[in-house]
Amino acid sequence: MSEQNPTSATLAEAPVSYDKQLERIEIELLLEGIFRQYGFDFRAYAYSSIRRRIWKRITAEHLENVSALQERVLHDPRMMERLLLDLSVNVTAMFRDPGFYAAFRAEVIPLLRTYPFIRIWHAGCSTGEEVYSMAILLQEEGLYDRSRLYATDINEVVLQQAKAGIFPLERMQEYTENYIRAGGKRSFSEYYTAKYDGALFTPTLRQNVVFSQHNLVTDRSFSEFNVVLCRNVLIYFDKTLQKRVHGLFYESLVNFGILCLGSKESLKFSEYEECYEQVSKMEKIYRKVR
Ligand SMILES: C[S@@+](CC[C@H](N)C(=O)[O-])C[C@H]1O[C@@H](n2cnc3c(N)ncnc32)[C@H](O)[C@@H]1O
Repeated sequence: MSEQNPTSATLAEAPVSYDKQLERIEIELLLEGIFRQYGFDFRAYAYSSIRRRIWKRITAEHLENVSALQERVLHDPRMMERLLLDLSVNVTAMFRDPGFYAAFRAEVIPLLRTYPFIRIWHAGCSTGEEVYSMAILLQEEGLYDRSRLYATDINEVVLQQAKAGIFPLERMQEYTENYIRAGGKRSFSEYYTAKYDGALFTPTLRQNVVFSQHNLVTDRSFSEFNVVLCRNVLIYFDKTLQKRVHGLFYESLVNFGILCLGSKESLKFSEYEECYEQVSKMEKIYRKVR
């Protein structure tokens, strides 16, 4: 599935009569309140995208305005949970952008073979499809046994789903096609068994995966990695926050470590641009060189 364009107006909107300046004040107060009450910091996310997601929740809850949502969110953690799912945009897929996985196999795997032990960080892993895809790829390349994958997300609900490793059965055809286009070497159906209406992925794929909550806005680096993947997350952040997160990735990578971004993201115009060389320009794969 392709990423929803965060600037397209597909979600619920504010009423036309809504005072834009007042709306901005209310949204800033809501985000400040969420940060102070729950520790989730959305204050530096791209405004137009966050605004639409807030209105989506206001409409779903049949509320009048942003202040009404704020009142509910601050007093009801379950409302915060629902809003968090809207704000964190969890769209994902297995072997999403198959060309990326094909390039990773061709360009990055030979570099990883030179390491005795491989540490990979999936930052913003959502429900885990990206992590299981990487585990399959590493297994097929004979590198999985010496790899450890760290899969993190701000959202505990999606992490629980990732740990379970059960994905919708109706998406298996799309995933099989992605897998083949990504250069998969076996039959994709070998990796899962159908259970009720879900596809349960083989537990060996998560044997070397550590799932844990980590917030890119407020938390620090927690280890050194050979590869950091952060795909389709930075598009939701404003420039200042993107800069912080690039700093975090730079610190977290070993020398000659690999950084993988999403198709609409890049290091261009970031202050770290000079610190990396391009491994695949098309697939946004970079290598830390200084
Ligand atoms: C669109 S999904 C991307 C999933 C996967 N990387 C992919 O490309 O398919 C974005 C994910 O980033 C997570 N996210 C958003 N803000 C975050 C933050 N501050 N720290 C960590 N994860 C965050 C969301 O919860 C969501 O699961």
